[in-house]
Amino acid sequence: MDIFQKCHDYTIAKEAIAAGVYPYFIPLTENEGAEAVCRGHRLIMCGSNNYLGLTTHPKVRQAALDAIEHYGTSCTGSRFLNGTLEMHEQLEHELAEWVGKEAALVFSTGMQTNLGAISALVGRGDSVVLDKEDHASIVDGARLSWGETRRYAHNDMADLERLLARLPEDRGKLLVVDGLFSMEGDIAPLPEIAPLCRRYGVRLMVDDAHAMGVLGGGHGTAAHFGLTDQVDLIMSTFSKSFASLGGFIAGDENASKVGVSGGGIACDNTDLFPRHFLLADWNAEIGAVFGGYLDRRALATGVFVI
Ligand SMILES: Cc1ncc(COP(=O)(O)O)c(C=O)c1O
Repeated sequence: MDIFQKCHDYTIAKEAIAAGVYPYFIPLTENEGAEAVCRGHRLIMCGSNNYLGLTTHPKVRQAALDAIEHYGTSCTGSRFLNGTLEMHEQLEHELAEWVGKEAALVFSTGMQTNLGAISALVGRGDSVVLDKEDHASIVDGARLSWGETRRYAHNDMADLERLLARLPEDRGKLLVVDGLFSMEGDIAPLPEIAPLCRRYGVRLMVDDAHAMGVLGGGHGTAAHFGLTDQVDLIMSTFSKSFASLGGFIAGDENASKVGVSGGGIACDNTDLFPRHFLLADWNAEIGAVFGGYLDRRALATGVFVI
């Protein structure tokens, strides 16, 4: 049987394109943040993750140009071997401080961060517990691990407790949850999740891709709830509020840096190029200002800006 056969048999997308109703992969001629030009029309962009509108900020553009001027265009090697620059370590230090953790490790994308962190931490005989609406990169990270995956109904604390109570005590356990769910627009109830994790001996990891720069004065969901100490690992991406590319995981030094950096994704992958982390670094600073503003607006209007 030809492994390509299913691709040739899949015709719905082509039919939708021919009918002019296919909604995906639409090329933009210009993408300036709040506005985009699409097939000759200037439109208001309501669908991007450019939450702070920083991709076209003059200082952000200049930081990218300066980095290329100074370092060229790639690290051309994995962190493990020749691809670590002093700037990686500096950025990791600043990110750890930003989210209130001891250490951080950066990856070349947010997706790689979840794949790398979850697959490195969850070993054979361990369990990883997910919300049913967790992001695909979390689900794929769990699939890539050697552990068993269990899922509870979205934000349903009774279902979560039922699930946790059934897990064997002597098993290593990690719960991974989106801080701010991008599709639903709701927030994980960390004030209920964190105590449940403590009660059942489960480590807690929050994916703050959509909350970083937006909630908790820009510091994320754990900071929003005042629970930074009770969340063991905080991950986020640079591809949304931070207007760049890359991701990081932060927590205690042994778990977030030593444990995760031993995994295949962290070791065998050319790392973040300086253009990106310069941006993340600078944007974290200004994210604090904008994040605080968005937080105040969210509180004032009762609407969370995502
Ligand atoms: C919740 C969540 N986690 C992780 C990612 C992956 O981040 P990136 O697109 O930077 O790889 C995304 C991006 O869509 C996301 O929404």
